[in-house]
Amino acid sequence: MNLHRITLKTGADRHTFRHAVRWLIAEELAPQHVVFEVDDAPALFGDDVAGDAPAVSIPKGVARLVEHAVCHSDPERYALLYRLVWRVLNGERDLLEVASDPLVHRLDLMARSVRRDLHKMHAFVRFRRMHHEGLERFAAWFEPEHFILEAAAPFFVDRFRSMDWTILTPIGSVRWDRAALSFGPPARREDAPDADSFEEGWRGYYESVFNPARVNPTAMRAEMPKKYWHNMPETAAIPGLIQTAVRRVDRMIEQEATMPAKRTPERALEAMWDQEPKSLRELNAIIAKAGPLVPGATQAVFGEGPVHADIVFVGEQPGDQEDLQGQPFVGPAGKLLDKAMRDAGIDRSQAYLTNAVKHFKFELRGKRRIHAKPTTGEVKHYRPWLMKELELVKPKLVVALGGTALLALTGKSTPITRSRGRARFGGYEGYVTVHPSYLLRLPDEATKQEAYEAFVSDLRRIHDLAQADLDTGELPLAAE
Ligand code: URA
Repeated sequence: MNLHRITLKTGADRHTFRHAVRWLIAEELAPQHVVFEVDDAPALFGDDVAGDAPAVSIPKGVARLVEHAVCHSDPERYALLYRLVWRVLNGERDLLEVASDPLVHRLDLMARSVRRDLHKMHAFVRFRRMHHEGLERFAAWFEPEHFILEAAAPFFVDRFRSMDWTILTPIGSVRWDRAALSFGPPARREDAPDADSFEEGWRGYYESVFNPARVNPTAMRAEMPKKYWHNMPETAAIPGLIQTAVRRVDRMIEQEATMPAKRTPERALEAMWDQEPKSLRELNAIIAKAGPLVPGATQAVFGEGPVHADIVFVGEQPGDQEDLQGQPFVGPAGKLLDKAMRDAGIDRSQAYLTNAVKHFKFELRGKRRIHAKPTTGEVKHYRPWLMKELELVKPKLVVALGGTALLALTGKSTPITRSRGRARFGGYEGYVTVHPSYLLRLPDEATKQEAYEAFVSDLRRIHDLAQADLDTGELPLAAE
């Protein structure tokens, strides 16, 4: 029997692969009779695939594995995946459960590696703000290990829907213009923009590559295969435009786009400062210098209160008002917290208030800046700073206000309902309660009132715990 050739394009060519698998299954072509090749030739399927074949129904787990493994950089991935699909459809429907099967094992490792890569990209892309004709644009450079650009893009659309952004990578570029995604050619490090000196070069690059005629990736490929892109006159002009920026860009990339080998908290701590901060002032200077992880914040909002306060309250992140005023808990949630503290007998001026994340993250809706929840990756990014802050304040009691604070303090995502009450955060006695903004969001007055009273009662307990400690000189918290 002849070998059937399936030609796919560079990258994660899901579309062609899906189409080819349907056809191969319909033709009952076993894997040993099929060769998968990668080539950017304009013909869509090489010579062997013709017409549309009916969809094949595979178990969800297999579909998920295909979805990820297809992005792997291993050239054998398509052949391996087709073997898997073939076996699943030919009597081994539960094949994925046989973890010891060499094919399952290998594909599982591939899918995991892709998921890790996606996670890295989601967590470590850093956007740079640029101004262009009065408009704000953002750009970032990233080096993925696998072909994950299309799979990673929706995450950034979700998070930064209201921003005009572009991510450049050696496997391709992606732009979101607040309305649609468009995929462009691979970039080089030096194509990545620098905040100050790059604007002109960037504009030329940007406008030539992302012209509206190429918004649709399939149309774009059909019109001009990737291998020809580097011959385009406008892209050839780029090196000249960007030369002055190269050194700074390289530095930026080394600092920002490189994933540390393993992010244990200790390593993250080491990586975050050349010189360990010895005071809150030094720590805050480091945070201010690092700037926001997600662009947009006006300033970093630091913790506030007496340096050796007995109680540290940890919130989520500054809100709109906090961002503008540069102080924690001064907006609506802060006002509610003030009132509840007064009702519980806690003197706010004697407590230290801070946040898990030090910069405001938001989405623009018209002119309004709407709070956007920080991701786990973002919370982890700020965590070493929070831990250092606690080390410097040395409180008797650390209070987690809501889930984000709890995640930052424990490294784990736990529902507040399950953990409300006394806790231990590493070496600190702790207490978990709701975030005041949760109370603001409750739908009706009766529920609000009830939740408020429960919150005040938590605060009373917090007050008593810290007081008891002061009075007895012991740690009554450990006894319960
Ligand atoms: N919400 C927080 O978590 N922190 C603030 O500082 C304000 C609102």
